[in-house]
Amino acid sequence: MNPRVGLVDAGYRAILRPLLFGSYHGDPEAVHEAMIANLARFSRSPGVVAATRLLAGSRGAPVTVAGIPFPGRVGLAAGMDKDGRAALAWQALGFGFAELGTVTAQAQPGNDKPRVFRLRRSGALVNRMGFNNAGAARLHHELSLLGVYRGGDGAGIPIGISIGKTKVVPVQDAVDDYLTSLSVVLPHADYVAVNVSSPNTPGLRSLQDGGALVELLTALVARAAGRAPLFVKIAPDLTDPQLDEVVGAAVDAGAAGLIATNTTLARDGVDPADLVLAEQAGGLSGAPLTRRAREVVGYLTRHVDLPVIGAGGIMTSADAEAMFDLGAALVQLYTGFVYSGPALAARINALTRRTA
Ligand SMILES: Cc1cc2nc3c(=O)[nH]c(=O)nc-3n(C[C@H](O)[C@H](O)[C@H](O)COP(=O)(O)O)c2cc1C
Repeated sequence: MNPRVGLVDAGYRAILRPLLFGSYHGDPEAVHEAMIANLARFSRSPGVVAATRLLAGSRGAPVTVAGIPFPGRVGLAAGMDKDGRAALAWQALGFGFAELGTVTAQAQPGNDKPRVFRLRRSGALVNRMGFNNAGAARLHHELSLLGVYRGGDGAGIPIGISIGKTKVVPVQDAVDDYLTSLSVVLPHADYVAVNVSSPNTPGLRSLQDGGALVELLTALVARAAGRAPLFVKIAPDLTDPQLDEVVGAAVDAGAAGLIATNTTLARDGVDPADLVLAEQAGGLSGAPLTRRAREVVGYLTRHVDLPVIGAGGIMTSADAEAMFDLGAALVQLYTGFVYSGPALAARINALTRRTA
């Protein structure tokens, strides 16, 4: 193991993670908010960014997917930096791209707190955030201030922006709601992720049904007009025939790729010590999702030519390798990053450099 990565790993596990997990009375969302605020503050200082990159960063293996040159194959998954406040930080932590959002056309508070739970024995999280975000216009403002624009190098890495449906907008009016978000974020997005798979917005997942999805994606592809490719993010809880519908709709509408998967409603693979927490409503992520996410990615890569971004339960570099072996073009981390810190991205980068 690279000694510097070993140091970052040990420092995170032995010092930073216990501090983070133990602070704010163990409230994961408060820790998360503090972490994003600090990353946002420090990433505005080029000196600190350079120092962070030297200490914790790592170089990935470049790859072009959907016409976008990615400097590395491991990215940050949506939901970590919903309002893009830390957009300048992610490249310094070893990520080859970052997916900001999910944002909605209207700002909204999300569900009542508490709404995130750490299942530590299981290496998992349950969340029912419900798309809390400051709105697409606020993200546009934030990224304009930070100088992050499509095709530019403002963030040092390509930026994906995830869009979802505003909760108070009825599902039958979803297309206009997504179109509003798309138009607002388009100047900043190297790709746009269409989130139809969060379990925490009532009715949202019904947009994965063939007819509804073709209508939504066709409208979005027309509005994007070739400026940014569209990726569709899907749920791990779909049956094979439902996956076929999604694939058919994505191809028919001209989407550029798929992201698999979002969090799951299932509770398989949870450690018995975490069973009480697992009863909390919401989507489960992390180690219990690894197997199902792989199955879905494998199914998709066997059935469609579109590039697939693999997400879900990537907790080790071997998990990322399994995703690549199944044909994933890129991978994303959320829960693995929470439990392992930047050393996980560094190890995946090292793996991709070796196999490039
Ligand atoms: C607290 C939390 C918030 C999330 N918010 C979003 C979101 O806003 N949009 C989205 O597409 N996915 C969201 N996700 C899902 C992740 O992007 C990812 O698809 C999922 O957690 C599986 O990956 P993981 O096992 O590496 O966490 C969220 C996940 C967590 C744990």
